[in-house]
Amino acid sequence: MSASVTVRVPAKVNVQLAVGAARADGFHDLANVFLAVGLYDEVTATPAAELRVTCEGPDAALVPLDRTNLAARAALALAARYGIEPDVHLHIVKDIPVAGGMAGGSADGAGALLACDALWGTGASRDELLEICAELGSDVPFSLVGGAALGTGRGERLTVLPVGGAFHWVFAMADRGLSTPAVFREFDRLTAGTDVPAPVTSEDLLAALAKGDTDALAAALPHSNDLQPAALSLYPELAATLDAGLRAGALAALVSGSGPTTAFLVSDPDAASRVAGALAASATCRTTRTTSAPARGATVTHHA
Ligand code: C5P
Repeated sequence: MSASVTVRVPAKVNVQLAVGAARADGFHDLANVFLAVGLYDEVTATPAAELRVTCEGPDAALVPLDRTNLAARAALALAARYGIEPDVHLHIVKDIPVAGGMAGGSADGAGALLACDALWGTGASRDELLEICAELGSDVPFSLVGGAALGTGRGERLTVLPVGGAFHWVFAMADRGLSTPAVFREFDRLTAGTDVPAPVTSEDLLAALAKGDTDALAAALPHSNDLQPAALSLYPELAATLDAGLRAGALAALVSGSGPTTAFLVSDPDAASRVAGALAASATCRTTRTTSAPARGATVTHHA
């Protein structure tokens, strides 16, 4: 058995999140265009007397360390499948905002799965790992895959998408988190009594990604996130953050997934610094980060 394995996993922004009506199982059919961005959590798996999760980072106090943590659930699922005792210490170095709409919990699930797979030498196939990811949560398969992908069904059925160049982003982290189920419930409340159309992928948006065309992506982003009105309804202050970024020269602004992190597409790293500076000065967010996309999916960075 190995001594330890470290895996690095990216955050995501949804450049499109088209949401259909609630299904009988409570989930919503989606046309979900995921883009992995260069903000990362790291998960290190080390043999231990029993399953244990620890976390460090500015938001560490907000991360549950019990068996509700997706990293713990990933280890338990893999161990159960291979008849292994899940005696592993999972240490998470957290840089992705917690409850931020950037798939931080999903990243930790995918990271722990890949780390335990390497630590235990299970030799699970990629398809098996993806199947376990899909059982853990709708966004977990994408955290494993990274790059860009279209997620259909509840978001877990992935088709890899071509990306023709780098896109530059600024993210503004909010003062508090939003619960994804609460945002979907607000979507249901806001759309009650209306005919919610089946989710359709934007061909213009896919073409912009494939070409690496920032201006075309910016043109496709307004109203691409059907959860944005629900997130704004639960967190009205986000409107001021979106406005501040646009006034500072962002080409497009949107809520990331179920929020409350807001995402700003910019033309280049200089513009990213300018917009991040203006957002910080506006005092409409807790902190900002600049980065680019696409980022690689979950990757083993250390195996000793
Ligand atoms: O799949 P995951 O556990 O990440 O989903 C969290 C919650 O988000 C679900 O319990 C559900 O309330 C909501 N959700 C949804 N439709 C989806 C994905 C998630 O309603 N396609």
